[in-house]
Amino acid sequence: MAEPYYVDEVAGRDDDSAVGTPTAPYQTLLFAMKMHPPESSSYLVKKASAADEAAEYKNVSDTALKKAKKIYEGWKRKQDKSSDLEIKAREEEMRRLAILEEAKKVVLDEDSSLPAAKRIRLDETEGVTLGTADKPGTRVKVLGRVHRSRTQKEVMFITLKDGYGQMQVVFGGQLIKTYAAMTLTLETSIEIKGQLRELPPKASAPLNRELHADYFRIIGAAAGDKEAITNKVQADGDNQTLLDQRHLVLRGDNASNVMKVRAAVLRAFRQAYLETRCLEVAPPSMVQTQVEGGATLFGFKYYDQEAYLTQSSQLYLETCLPSMGDVFCICPSFRAERSLTRRHLAEYMHIEAELDFITFDDLLSHLEHVICRVVDLILADPVTAAYVKDLNSKFQPPSRPFKRMKYADAIEWLNEHKIDFDDDELPEDDPQRKRPHRFGDDIAEAAERKMTDILNVPIFLTHFPAEIKAFYMSRDPADRRVTESVDVLMPNVGEIVGGSMRISDYDELMAAYKRVEIDATPYYWYTDQRKYGTSPHGGYGLGLERFLAWLCDRHTVRDCVLYPRFVNRCTP
Ligand code: 4AD
Repeated sequence: MAEPYYVDEVAGRDDDSAVGTPTAPYQTLLFAMKMHPPESSSYLVKKASAADEAAEYKNVSDTALKKAKKIYEGWKRKQDKSSDLEIKAREEEMRRLAILEEAKKVVLDEDSSLPAAKRIRLDETEGVTLGTADKPGTRVKVLGRVHRSRTQKEVMFITLKDGYGQMQVVFGGQLIKTYAAMTLTLETSIEIKGQLRELPPKASAPLNRELHADYFRIIGAAAGDKEAITNKVQADGDNQTLLDQRHLVLRGDNASNVMKVRAAVLRAFRQAYLETRCLEVAPPSMVQTQVEGGATLFGFKYYDQEAYLTQSSQLYLETCLPSMGDVFCICPSFRAERSLTRRHLAEYMHIEAELDFITFDDLLSHLEHVICRVVDLILADPVTAAYVKDLNSKFQPPSRPFKRMKYADAIEWLNEHKIDFDDDELPEDDPQRKRPHRFGDDIAEAAERKMTDILNVPIFLTHFPAEIKAFYMSRDPADRRVTESVDVLMPNVGEIVGGSMRISDYDELMAAYKRVEIDATPYYWYTDQRKYGTSPHGGYGLGLERFLAWLCDRHTVRDCVLYPRFVNRCTP
């Protein structure tokens, strides 16, 4: 056997500076073995326990050698395994690259002897017949993006989406041998031609059909690897990332289905208003008056003047009544809300209506009718109903009449249920901070939600004290402390509607401006309604995103708008 290798447990080094000679010894026997395998080497060790500086290098005892060898062999086995895996992975990669290289040579030509393909959207069923293995179906051309794909033996299944529907597409034969098919990434836009067929027994796919492709062409390949959409957005990704990548989140089923329900809800509201003879108008977004208090106004310079983004179109709607009859509008409202709650947006879609010559009771009946009619219209449309079912499988249309509860009774109800008022003006540890509710308290979001969730039905919460409501609300003739006002509360969300009868008397309105210290001058056009043939009238505003959060069971209104705007978020 050759020269032994030297191990000095005190002065040795287990790194590149050591070579195993007496002048450059290793520090541990295991390291010496890793460098010089025990099958062909011997070692001399100077023990750490040898206190004497002049201690000698000695042969390793049999037991110590056996023990070190055992550890060494374990390490060796692991090394071998990982280098085996590395080699295998490298070979696999080489094979894959070779196959891809080969695939580049496969050219897919459209077979001109096949019947011309009929262009259809993915949800179309009219004018197409489904074939079987022996009977040809309609040859169609579809355009869309790859939503999902999986390869099974010699077949590739693609779920294509085009915003109208989804279709299962089957690639076999030459098609899967092409470079494009082998490197297909999710979201790639693609044109596919082929024959529509019935599904094999027990299989399931949209509209119970699948497209057996005979030709395809990539229109725009989507990024893959690190940039692949599945890496950019993950269902359990953190909120900020998902918000930054909202444009990609919208490619998903849930997010886009909520948007489809949103469009259907807007159609349904318009239909319900058409049926109740309300006329659609479009008030301005840039205004010079406030409606719901100065704290949430977004101000901006309008040329050389001060102006705001509208908080509500209500005041303008009121001016339409005399000549246009009952009116409604669906326009964005803006609130510079500081609160980061799950039901507040800085920009939201406000559905507002104003009705002339009505009583407070008429207002409540109208509200109940419109909400129920919209739900009925949504559920009567099989496509939208399917989206709602998918998003909110437990959804039940509300039963009529809605529960009516006066504010004063709600205060009592909260106290009976030990739901305290939380005065967030006071420090967290102030013993006065939490106390039973009193008449005059603004019922906070958390308390309101608890009540709504326990009662678990839509509620008309009415007759709020004048002090906690907007200046324009008329008082209840039977109890002048309170207003003829209503909030509609829905389980899971809380308030989705705020409405009231409006002050119709000129002097009373002037007193109301004074009470809240609003300068009446810029409101001259609003005040004039009381000068030129006043009337008992009222209306309401409904937050579309809150309505959707209720209908589609979304945790937050941010999921119910295309690109949410809230504190510090204006991107993308
Ligand atoms: O209760 P609000 O403030 O009432 C008004 O603006 C009235 N002037 C409307 C009218 O009578 N024409 O708002 C009405 C509804 C709320 O119930 C809520 O659904 C929604 O608008 N809303 C918001 N939605 C999302 N984010 C916000 N920051 C919202 N503020 C109000």
